Amino acid sequence: MRVLFVTAEAYPLAKTGGLADVSRALPLALRRRGHDVRLLMPGYPRAYVRIENPRIVAKIEPILGVSDATLIAGRFPDADLPVWLIDSPSLFRREGGLYQDSQGRDWPDNALRFAFLAHVAAKLAMGIPKIGWSPDVVHANDWHAGLLPLLLSLEKEPKPSTVFTTHNMAFQGNFPVSWLPKIGIPEEHFCAEGVEFYGQVSFLKAGLTYADRVTTVSPTYAAEILTPEFGCGMEGILRDRGDKFIGILNGIDDNLWNPATDACLPRTYRDSDISGKRACKTALQSEFGLTVSPDAPLIGFVSRITHQKMADVILEALPWIAEQDAQFVAVGEGDPKMEAAFEQAKEMYSGRVAVTIGYDEPLAHKLQAASDILLAPARFEPCGLTQLYALRYGTLPIVRRTGGLADTVTDATATSIAERLATGFVFDEVDRESLEEAIARALALYREPLTWRRLQLQAMGQDFSWDASAARYSALYGAVSGLPETMETIDSPIEEVALETSRQAAS
Ligand code: ADP
Ligand code: GLC
Repeated sequence: MRVLFVTAEAYPLAKTGGLADVSRALPLALRRRGHDVRLLMPGYPRAYVRIENPRIVAKIEPILGVSDATLIAGRFPDADLPVWLIDSPSLFRREGGLYQDSQGRDWPDNALRFAFLAHVAAKLAMGIPKIGWSPDVVHANDWHAGLLPLLLSLEKEPKPSTVFTTHNMAFQGNFPVSWLPKIGIPEEHFCAEGVEFYGQVSFLKAGLTYADRVTTVSPTYAAEILTPEFGCGMEGILRDRGDKFIGILNGIDDNLWNPATDACLPRTYRDSDISGKRACKTALQSEFGLTVSPDAPLIGFVSRITHQKMADVILEALPWIAEQDAQFVAVGEGDPKMEAAFEQAKEMYSGRVAVTIGYDEPLAHKLQAASDILLAPARFEPCGLTQLYALRYGTLPIVRRTGGLADTVTDATATSIAERLATGFVFDEVDRESLEEAIARALALYREPLTWRRLQLQAMGQDFSWDASAARYSALYGAVSGLPETMETIDSPIEEVALETSRQAAS
């Protein structure tokens, strides 16, 4: 099948979180199954400089008053994945973040920026401009691409089927109704059965409502968001979708996140010999000015510093953590107040606590490898990838029993350890005591090297590769498009398409 995968970020072109990891790994896994998956995303400057062999393939006719856009084709620098970038200087070529300026304020024209993404995707899906390729299925991700299923619902057959995945119900893309005429959505769709959500236009609601099928990124989160506690006001919409809505667990990219080959690590290691992991720990300890001691338990935290990730509760627990015979290293960014509190803790407990505020991909890898324990708690977690990376790196995760965390980590109890099922530590309540109790359990087991080693082996042996989940998406595409899953792919190489188009343009 030909699949157009539409996303706001994809590693390594542009990344703020797990969506970028999935937007790379899932298309690649689907391509390995023989599907012709191609990506469409905004042409941020950082993406443009990273793609290989970028070529202008078409000028995009003015839509929504945006008349400066061209479509650029290229490939991922390090993987067999074709991508189209929408190059619009007015919308995407700017200094700052993908969604926010350098002060952390949302770009004021986000509604227009991502409506434009959806409009261009819809046109492309309908064969405009002519680039010699059109999809059988369009897979739209998160609110940024939420208007796309709606736009395609307005088109006449033949047209591709639509799948929409919500990676996080808390990010909804809700905008004042005054945006409606500017984002090209017919007024009659601003209603309770359409995009209206408490008086605003909701991009997320559009995706959930108009897509042929809706998915989210773990089975437990899929069940949770049918309830008011987790549904963020959209639980009724999801319930109405019935069996058109399912949860498919994310996987991880085995090549990028593999301690045996990870180029970011000072020493690689594998489950049969984890001595390299100790070397990673001492290297990190000395890099961060911590007491260099391969036996001191190192607790890592690689995360957005937000309320979702219980960063506030970790901060409450930090004085207690600092009193334990353990070290704590965090890399993250997010809420400025909490960032400052982490910095303060670093000063207060120097030698035992180290903090890097910011986004640092190689450091994320090094910290996963160096740590013995990864803190990955959350008030809610659609899937969570850091706990999966931790498992792969023999770093035992501490998680709260929610969403994808509940689906992927098995709590270490006497029984689960004996049955060789335990892979980490799971707690239930959102409070400091519960977090501390879980950390205390982890630290106690750390002092039993044989048990700890058994748990590490168990963790490293888990299979969270994309294969099984990609098979489920593949089946879903088959079901929604009516096409046989096994149909042979007609993979028209993108270079030829580019040549063809530039020849047409030249003539
Ligand atoms: P979410 O997408 O909700 O932030 P996930 O666990 O799904 O959570 O994915 C987070 C991704 O972002 C992981 O790849 C993690 O390594 C990465 N990450 C988070 N914070 C940082 C950071 N400060 N520096 C580098 N990578 C980070
Ligand atoms: C979101 C979620 C996270 C998930 C990621 C990829 O960022 O918060 O739980 O792992 O998307 O699906």
